Amino acid sequence: MAKKQNESKSNRNVSPQPRLHQRARETQSYGTVRYALPLELEEPVRVQITNQLNQLLADTMTLRDLYKKCHWQVAGPTFYQLHLLFDKHYGEQNELVDSIAERIQMLGGISLAMAADVAETTQIERPPRGREEVPVQLSRLIDAHQIIIQQSRPLARRAAELGDDGTNDLVVSDVIRTNELQIWFLSEHLVDVPLVEAKERAASAGAS
Ligand SMILES: [Fe+2]
Repeated sequence: MAKKQNESKSNRNVSPQPRLHQRARETQSYGTVRYALPLELEEPVRVQITNQLNQLLADTMTLRDLYKKCHWQVAGPTFYQLHLLFDKHYGEQNELVDSIAERIQMLGGISLAMAADVAETTQIERPPRGREEVPVQLSRLIDAHQIIIQQSRPLARRAAELGDDGTNDLVVSDVIRTNELQIWFLSEHLVDVPLVEAKERAASAGAS
């Protein structure tokens, strides 16, 4: 009996050895929400909203990474301004990624996180690995913004209808407004204006 007690005592000894390479079953499956939360939002509402937020998250993560690709690979006379602009937008999209992911967790859901899962989920067209011209970079970014805006407006309205004011506020105040502003900054670079000589001035100068 005494021996048994000593054995169980030694088993409980604290060891300085880290327990490495551990694996275990998930504690919550993707696509589910915690059923009991004091949020005054029913489980089916939170399932619906977190599913749509995960789509928005996958697309926002993809747009964020597309900005970094463009930041690194941009070339040409507008290199400096676009290099800086793309990184500024990257940082703003990165903040949105965190806000959307944490909103999903707040609602009791599970956020997408890893690149492979994001790649399977996003609706944004995959660009080639190589470098593309500036107008193509800008067009890809604007197309990606459009996909995000397209889903954000109905998502904001649906969240408001279901009583999820927090999600409505996040999508309207942060996602939609940030994307609208960034679309404006990109689109202005695709307006074909003369850089040195005004077109009208050249025409009247030719007539005289
Ligand atoms: Fe950089």
